[in-house]
Amino acid sequence: MRTLRLFVTAATALALAACSGGGAVDGTPGGSGVRDPYFPKAGNGGYDIGHYDLALDYDPASGLGGDAEGDTEAGHLSGTATITARATRDLSAFDLDLKGLDVEKVTVEGRDARFNRAGQELTVRPADELKDGETFRVTVRYSGEPETITDADDSEEGWLPTADGAVGLGEPTGSMAWFPGSHHPSDKATYDLTVTVPEGLGVVSNGELRDERTRDGRTTFTWHTAEPVASHVVTVAVGEWKTGRSTTDDGLPVYTAVDPTQAGASRKVLKQIPEIMDWAQKNFGPYPFSSTGAIVDRDEDAEYALETQNRPYFPGTPDTVLLVHELAHQWYGNSVSPKTWRDMWLNEGFATYAEWLWEEDHGGDTAKETFEALYDGTYYDDEDESDSVWAFPPADPPDAAHLSDSPVYQRGAMVLHKIRETVGDDAFWELLSGWSAAHRHGNADTADFTAYVEKSAPHEDFTEIWADWLRGDGRPESP
Ligand code: TRP
Ligand code: ZN
Repeated sequence: MRTLRLFVTAATALALAACSGGGAVDGTPGGSGVRDPYFPKAGNGGYDIGHYDLALDYDPASGLGGDAEGDTEAGHLSGTATITARATRDLSAFDLDLKGLDVEKVTVEGRDARFNRAGQELTVRPADELKDGETFRVTVRYSGEPETITDADDSEEGWLPTADGAVGLGEPTGSMAWFPGSHHPSDKATYDLTVTVPEGLGVVSNGELRDERTRDGRTTFTWHTAEPVASHVVTVAVGEWKTGRSTTDDGLPVYTAVDPTQAGASRKVLKQIPEIMDWAQKNFGPYPFSSTGAIVDRDEDAEYALETQNRPYFPGTPDTVLLVHELAHQWYGNSVSPKTWRDMWLNEGFATYAEWLWEEDHGGDTAKETFEALYDGTYYDDEDESDSVWAFPPADPPDAAHLSDSPVYQRGAMVLHKIRETVGDDAFWELLSGWSAAHRHGNADTADFTAYVEKSAPHEDFTEIWADWLRGDGRPESP
């Protein structure tokens, strides 16, 4: 990447020298979003990010441990984000997504850049225009008390203060509360995170821990992620951690970080990680990343688990099936990321079907039985919940508030089961691993998936499955 940048910069300098005084203005602003159907301003137009280098400094608020109500306040975050990106057209300006926080300084290719802010858009106007194909480096220096973002479905995300620190949880748009970037899953990148906290606290993130050093009462942790990550599954978890290191049978590093209050309760389930990884690789194909593990915080620290890349985050000790769900997301959701948030069922339908398969293989209900119970309405005790599965088709949630509803999860898994019934077990397992291989470290949408299924079983007819189960309204007439 460095060679390329030098080359392009030299070429640009020549090109500029050739025109009148280098002052030609033919670029246009990159645009505020990538027109996601649910989050139109998420991500940004006109460039692609290759790498984030985030240097963060965090001080939890004084009075750590919460106020009388148990609510913890956000502390102070300061950071420098160094982003390496490539222009995909001539740019006079471009946007980054950032919510809250104060921006102190922005540079592009080492030169001060003008910037302004409107809502979640940080618009940067570089001193020199960027040329189509040019690789450039932008740095943003920022600080403040990060905001908690309340999602369309009322869940909280962003930078969440916890009992003993904080955690960054990004799905779907929370990451913009703690670092500037292109916060849409279509723009994946590699990361280096260097996080400094008061001595005594620990920091866990994605990828692998490269360094840890203490000076003058502060400890700096350096984490490196070599495989592309979508920003909503980037995490930093600050707190008191009991860390554990082991390896799977294949030699894959397992790194776990557990809040001391969860240490006893989580020991047994976390010990299953190597066995789950082994099982998952047999079913889903080679693991796409260079390490695995888990982060277990306290129950009250967040409202949901998240498949943060390499090591999923759990508020409280997970059960085995939840651990299976979040680890399955490493293949489906993290390595194969959705093109837009409309394709979320490709994450959740697969991770839910992974749960059914785990149960089937470990003495529980078969996937067929789970499918039938959902169809009959006997899966849930409550009738409203049973009906909710049919509220909308998995491939078309009505709005952002419904992205994590049961049609996306359970009915998404039902679509996969219908495919399994149609093609048979052998072909279905080929399809599971083939799909994860076909889009490894990439992005895919529903049309890519249906085309893939059709191509892998050319003699079968999937018309009804797509029409009734994937895209149709209401409960299909027969199971
Ligand atoms: N993806 C998470 C899971 O299934 C759940 C989740 C957390 C979620 N935050 C979300 C889903 C926001 C949709 C939107 O494990
Ligand atoms: Zn999930």
